[in-house]
Amino acid sequence: MPTKKVIKKVNKKTKRHIQQTNVHRRKRKRRRIKKSVLIGFIAIIVAICAIIFVPKTIQNSKLKDLGYDSQTIKAIRKQNLQKEIIDNQYYSDYLAQEILNDTVKEEYLDLYSVRTSDAPLEEKDFLLYHRLLDKGYSRQQANNLFKQLRFYEITPLLVFDYQVLESTYIKDCLDHRDINSETHFELTNDYYTEYENTLPVDDQSSNAMLVNKTYYLSSDYVPANITELSVVYAAQDVSLASEAAEAFMAWVDAGMDLGVRFYAASAYRPYSHQEELYNDYIASMGQEQADALSARPGFSEHQTGLTVDLASVNSDGISEYKDTNEYTWTSTNCQDYGWILRYPEGKTQITGYDFESWHYRYVGVEIAQAVVASNLTYDEYYCLYLKPWNDQSLAYGTNANQSTTPTTAPTTQDA
Ligand code: DAL
Ligand code: ZN
Repeated sequence: MPTKKVIKKVNKKTKRHIQQTNVHRRKRKRRRIKKSVLIGFIAIIVAICAIIFVPKTIQNSKLKDLGYDSQTIKAIRKQNLQKEIIDNQYYSDYLAQEILNDTVKEEYLDLYSVRTSDAPLEEKDFLLYHRLLDKGYSRQQANNLFKQLRFYEITPLLVFDYQVLESTYIKDCLDHRDINSETHFELTNDYYTEYENTLPVDDQSSNAMLVNKTYYLSSDYVPANITELSVVYAAQDVSLASEAAEAFMAWVDAGMDLGVRFYAASAYRPYSHQEELYNDYIASMGQEQADALSARPGFSEHQTGLTVDLASVNSDGISEYKDTNEYTWTSTNCQDYGWILRYPEGKTQITGYDFESWHYRYVGVEIAQAVVASNLTYDEYYCLYLKPWNDQSLAYGTNANQSTTPTTAPTTQDA
């Protein structure tokens, strides 16, 4: 029988043991809690990483599938373009190159995506693009035009009627690729319904005003400061607006110094004069031919006082002008005196008139030089660079950034 003392000792030992066991249990429990907190924490980190990196990986793989390499994908991310590119499936080698160079304009990703590196977009393309939108073309139509056509094939559309089916126009242009260029443009179909949807001239007080088969002057419009030219410079009773007259005389004087001798056979024509002239043409050749040579009253540039018909002193009148040295010189140098050849050869479908070697229009030196450098007709140039916007919210930029006296009065028909 254990003694009382022994029993007490055993109890004490057991108690201590129990206490120790409890301490161990508590420690184990605490360790278990710590472990699960850690696991939870790691799980959260992993989840956060997944939320961040998985979509990025998916996006990268989609960009790769579209054709972008890893360097371009980095650039896409840097410029934050990934969503728009993926959503719209935009890709072209040209777009990729522009993104990589960090030169892409974000609002035109669709336009870049239809172009190739051998037809890079210039400022004038963006302007033309906006002008198409302002004329009523959808972005899709504009993209289609920019995808398949060159600048000089698209600019006539600013003068022509709105084309519901741009694909017909595109096909016509492609069919004429072998003969068309910046200096010659013709198509099989007509895209300009002359004298329909006519509009008053935008700004009658401007030397840059456009008068053509769309824009007209009222019958009572008479330019301010009409000045009669002396017979040193013109046939009898020939006048120009004063600024144009000064510029014309400087031009004639410069030619004369070089032995190039030309004069104004006709210049300002009032509405009533143009009316008589046009009716005479109809009587002699019928309306269709008359419309190719003569403007209807109100639609003639001659009414602006900013236009001259030139003749050489060495030949019979305006119709022979093309074959003279004077034509060679004036057609090459006109822009330096503020004049442009208004109805050039090879652009009849755009201007609405047969080639007129004699008909020059004053627009001022800056614009004249810009028009010549552009290779555009004035109709196109005006509609691209100078015309007021229909919808101001579509406006892209705002700037175009442009002697011998005839001994006898010439007896040529005015034109
Ligand atoms: N011959 C030009 C087009 C006019 O009549 O104004
Ligand atoms: Zn003329």
